[in-house]
Amino acid sequence: MPKGKFFYEDLIMKHKTDVRAQIIQIGIDEMYHSLQLGIIITQMGGIPSFKTDEVVRYPRIMDNLKRDKMTEDMVTNLYQSAEFKPGAYPKIQNMVLNISYDEVRHSQQFAAMMEAIKSSGDEEALCYQSNPENAQKEDVQLLHKITRLENALLHRYLKYVLLFSEHQDLSQRLFKNSIDHMRHWDKNSGLLIKMGDVIQIENAETDNQGVEKSKIPMPSLYSGEDRLTALKTLIPAEEELITKYEKLISIVPDREIKDQLQLHLALNREHVFTQEWLLKNAQKIEELE
Ligand SMILES: [Fe+2]
Ligand SMILES: [Fe+2]
Repeated sequence: MPKGKFFYEDLIMKHKTDVRAQIIQIGIDEMYHSLQLGIIITQMGGIPSFKTDEVVRYPRIMDNLKRDKMTEDMVTNLYQSAEFKPGAYPKIQNMVLNISYDEVRHSQQFAAMMEAIKSSGDEEALCYQSNPENAQKEDVQLLHKITRLENALLHRYLKYVLLFSEHQDLSQRLFKNSIDHMRHWDKNSGLLIKMGDVIQIENAETDNQGVEKSKIPMPSLYSGEDRLTALKTLIPAEEELITKYEKLISIVPDREIKDQLQLHLALNREHVFTQEWLLKNAQKIEELE
């Protein structure tokens, strides 16, 4: 949705706030929730996955907000109805309650956003749409491919962050790279809008109302089960991404878009350096599993 176009009065902050900016913040809160839960699942001996419910995108902004609020209420209820044996896992109990109040806050924010959009008469406002001509444009299609790879890498790094969460040094370095890929993904979505397109939802089907639904918006499992296999698999993935950026930079006409892509390419090259040394250094210590 457009930046700086829709505003709502935030009840807690007592401030007129950009709807889009606040939705991004809510998305970040959600990523922290999943990070916290993933670490706990790993500590309990489980294997976290990225399996998710269906992802839906409606053409109207309002319908997306409605679904978001419904989801917030559903998760609030799930967290608040969790049952623990008396005295069991006090810190996890506390975490679950703390997360549930983030969800309460989110739900109230979505309610206020919908109120504001209704009262300003913008109920019919649409999300950005993809220009059909872009299906023939090599640069736009390549940027979609790159953005999908950025998304995959963000999640692959995140998986290893969870897997090695007890190894602070390693997991922080992997987390940094995961965040870089998330930033690139976010910036690329902005570039797609500049090119008259919009970020795709992976494996989505569109019905005759223009509603997109995907049951597998991303793979739920990624390869690499231990330090060495995990570290090894990331290097060729980074290299593949680098090759695609180089290609795109050579064909994209817009100067500003090119400059932004150059920044992503540069950081991804740095990731290869980091990953090669993480791998070599891990191979030097025999006791590391
Ligand atoms: Fe959440
Ligand atoms: Fe939430």
